[in-house]
Amino acid sequence: MFYYYGRKKQISKYYPSPQCDTIVEPFAGAAAYSAYKDNWKKNVILIEKDEKVYKIWDWLINEATEQEILNLPELKIGEKSSDFLHIIHAATKMAFHFKTIKVTAVLERNWEISKRIMSQNLHKVKHWQILNDDYSNAPDIEATWFIDPPYKGEAGLGYRHSSKLLDYDKLAEWALNRKGEVIFCEGKEGDYLPFKPLVDLKGVAGKVNKEMIYYRSDVLVPEQTTLFSNINV
Ligand SMILES: C[S@@+](CC[C@H](N)C(=O)[O-])C[C@H]1O[C@@H](n2cnc3c(N)ncnc32)[C@H](O)[C@@H]1O
Repeated sequence: MFYYYGRKKQISKYYPSPQCDTIVEPFAGAAAYSAYKDNWKKNVILIEKDEKVYKIWDWLINEATEQEILNLPELKIGEKSSDFLHIIHAATKMAFHFKTIKVTAVLERNWEISKRIMSQNLHKVKHWQILNDDYSNAPDIEATWFIDPPYKGEAGLGYRHSSKLLDYDKLAEWALNRKGEVIFCEGKEGDYLPFKPLVDLKGVAGKVNKEMIYYRSDVLVPEQTTLFSNINV
């Protein structure tokens, strides 16, 4: 729906399709997996600890109209903005720590694209729910749990609620106790669950980002089990 550091927009296609009627994203961010293809038609419950991110979702789900989004002012290169929705479009992981940002060509363009995408896709999220809370307070229901925390180590440092603040062993134990299906995302430093390689992504300056996955399902769907047998544990 909107630009977000660490969002799963480009790689949603590599994750298993949801098998349950409800998708829960306990680390919501921009919730790219829930928005992917037809996933949005499910019951979607988002949990996000960062109040500023929560407020974007609350506005999109409960208030915004397509026209209102299209009418949001354009950004002009060189001007300044203190609007968090603008700031996260700056395509930098440090964006969360900026109070004000100077509009660059990248930001101007990202914002223009995002306005169009938010407006076109707004109808998809109107039945979703967003909670401003810690992941551990998510409802204890059977669901497809798409768990995408700030990655352990440096990659997860940028967020306001960053990797520094997470107890990963506690998170692993909590994830193992979810009912239904668990799709758990991590990076190369994920060592607290039996993660397996999912895909290598090209980053900036030739850098390769290793995407890892832990997958577990109590939901019996034969084709899915075969397809992902290499990543089942
Ligand atoms: C990697 S991002 C999620 C990206 C998301 N999957 C997407 O597609 O945009 C992780 C998110 O978890 C949030 N977060 C960090 N600690 C949290 C916690 N304890 N409970 C809930 N959300 C948390 C961060 O604010 C951030 O938005």
